[in-house]
Amino acid sequence: MRLREGLFILLTLLILIMAWLFISMSVHPRHSITLLQNFIGGAPPRREHVTTKTALYKCRMTKECPPDYYAFYIKSGAANVVNPNICFENKTLLSGPLGNAGSGMNIAVLNSLTGQLLNTGSFDMYSGDPAELLKFLKEIQAETLILAASGDDIGTKMNDEIRDIFTSFGSQFIKSVKFRDNWIFVGAPKIKSTSPFEQHLENNKETNKYDGWPEMLEMNGCIPRAF
Ligand SMILES: *[C@@H]1O[C@H](CO)[C@@H](O)[C@H](O)[C@H]1NC(C)=O
Repeated sequence: MRLREGLFILLTLLILIMAWLFISMSVHPRHSITLLQNFIGGAPPRREHVTTKTALYKCRMTKECPPDYYAFYIKSGAANVVNPNICFENKTLLSGPLGNAGSGMNIAVLNSLTGQLLNTGSFDMYSGDPAELLKFLKEIQAETLILAASGDDIGTKMNDEIRDIFTSFGSQFIKSVKFRDNWIFVGAPKIKSTSPFEQHLENNKETNKYDGWPEMLEMNGCIPRAF
């Protein structure tokens, strides 16, 4: 008899649940499908949600930067076709569409304490006058961050004075940058050692992605306020 009673209770419960599902589905069809999925064993992952969330992080980052860090993204130019791009705290500071990026050395200077943009510059290092870049670099104040990216060529008019200044900002590779090499960099006048945010790719016939230029470089990360 025990078994029969148990079965009866189970059946009654099942009928009640079915009835509840049936009624709620006809009232709130979308809502109850979710409820049903949760009941059966978890709703399927909601792709839409994940995508929006990824796009929410600053400068194409896949995670949030800790407090007192700035999010950045830097892309070099690609051959003599695509202009470099510099993003800081989710704001594009330099790009082709903005009209302030181009062939040569592209630089953004920010106040390191506030993250405020102080200056940007794009200097033709193939047919331009390197004295203009030198003047720009010499005017940079102490409490700043420097984000830089090569476009097309930064090697032709590069000189030792320019290399020395970037080296004092924490660059390891600017010393060896030559014709059509790609280079991206984050540095600071007050940096204590070499910058962890630097990439250099040589123009090399054997390994070049493009005819005459290496593959474009890109990196992102979190820069400490006290860099
Ligand atoms: C970053 O910018 C993108 C595109 O402009 C925007 O969709 C996103 O909400 C922004 N994220 C943050 C954290 O500000």
